[in-house]
Amino acid sequence: MPNDSKSKSPDVPSDWTPTSWRSRPIHQQPSYQDQAELTRSLATIASYPPLVFVGEVEILRLQLAEAAQGRRFILQGGDCAERFQDCNPEAITSKLKILLQMSVVLSYGARQPVIRIGRIAGQYAKPRSADTEIIDGKTLPVFRGDNINSFEPDPDGRRPDPRRLTQSYYAASMTLNYVRAMITGGFADLHHPENWNLSFVSKSSHRQRYEQVVANIRDAVAFMESFGGVREETLGSVDFFTSHEGLLLGFEEAMTRYVPHLGRYYNLGAHMLWIGDRTRSLDGAHIEYFRGIANPVGIKWGPTADPAEMVRIIKALDPRNEPGRITIITRFGASQVAKCLPLAIDAVRQAGLNVLWSSDPMHGNVIKTKNGIKTRDFDAILSELKACFDGHKKHGSRLGGVHFELTGEDVTECTGGAEGIGEQDLSRNYETFCDPRLNYSQSLEMAFVIANIMQVNHQDTAE
Ligand code: PEP
Ligand code: CO
Repeated sequence: MPNDSKSKSPDVPSDWTPTSWRSRPIHQQPSYQDQAELTRSLATIASYPPLVFVGEVEILRLQLAEAAQGRRFILQGGDCAERFQDCNPEAITSKLKILLQMSVVLSYGARQPVIRIGRIAGQYAKPRSADTEIIDGKTLPVFRGDNINSFEPDPDGRRPDPRRLTQSYYAASMTLNYVRAMITGGFADLHHPENWNLSFVSKSSHRQRYEQVVANIRDAVAFMESFGGVREETLGSVDFFTSHEGLLLGFEEAMTRYVPHLGRYYNLGAHMLWIGDRTRSLDGAHIEYFRGIANPVGIKWGPTADPAEMVRIIKALDPRNEPGRITIITRFGASQVAKCLPLAIDAVRQAGLNVLWSSDPMHGNVIKTKNGIKTRDFDAILSELKACFDGHKKHGSRLGGVHFELTGEDVTECTGGAEGIGEQDLSRNYETFCDPRLNYSQSLEMAFVIANIMQVNHQDTAE
């Protein structure tokens, strides 16, 4: 850490250090029995190379600033909780594939470049609603993510283990290495709809409309490719960014690095981080940590948040009111969005804040089936999204992005969609350790529906 305070940029608050969060009240942290082992693990992580490069974070920041000005659209998505066992070529490939394919469809609908941000290469730790749970009559510490304890319901496995932190660094770096290799090696050729699995289209009542979108994308890609040079620039390679919830502050501190030529601190464990709905208290440790790092920051905004308090939080994190610094990710739920969103938009507007708005239509729409399985329904997710597009438009604002929990695999965790997954199908391939994710077809279908909403919005504006 630098001891020359003169080399610091004025962006770094004078009373902030990468450890200043330690004196604030903190939520959602594991209690480790072996503090010496924890200190060793964190020191090891702090000695390792960053996972991302500061120049990449700066590119994302500029792109998000453009999105805040209405010139780009964000797609953020991936697992609720990444699992160590998913650090394998198939799972990584299919996640990248679905995100790239969705981004092509969204870009077509938005008529804008899409910023792709994975919930990947670090999305391990989970906030939980209770510290313990009862399984087969036994009370156990709750599962908090693969970087903390084991999903297996046994007392030893559920004990927080600091060695899992170093393991999460390795899993994140292997995942990111493979993502980077695929992108530079030409995997982005997946722009071609010929390579997509579109079987859901034939099952949808909107079949004709979707077929038309596919045909238009195919034409647009062929047209672009007919200009050799343009292809390289626009289609052959793509930007892809990583993100995770900045929950476990010991780990995040270890990934925080001072960048001398900019005079700022960056979290170089991911390009973007977000603050969860359960850890965003104004005087708490999380806001303290985040106000000192220069990365773009997402803030979840749920139905229990007080708009005036949210304004104070945004100001604490972004005193310079820079477009692109803050992305607000609303997650009100389909039944509350109509009530909560206008209040949020008004509060932010009255305070004159430059934020970028995204919608997470997943976390407000979790339900339990009669058999106690956690699920989300395609139509409820869609209903929240539509209400966000409409609500922003009606209030003179703009929805600039979407945030999903999804996977490229053929899981059965969410109900609905053209393939008609019902409650009785959920047990067929229910894999998630945490929240239910859209599967490949549901995700791609969601992108088609959103593209359609955005196209209709363009037409309305043009009329
Ligand atoms: C999440 O994004 O996985 C999450 C826990 O969200 P929230 O903080 O909005 O509940
Ligand atoms: Co989740």
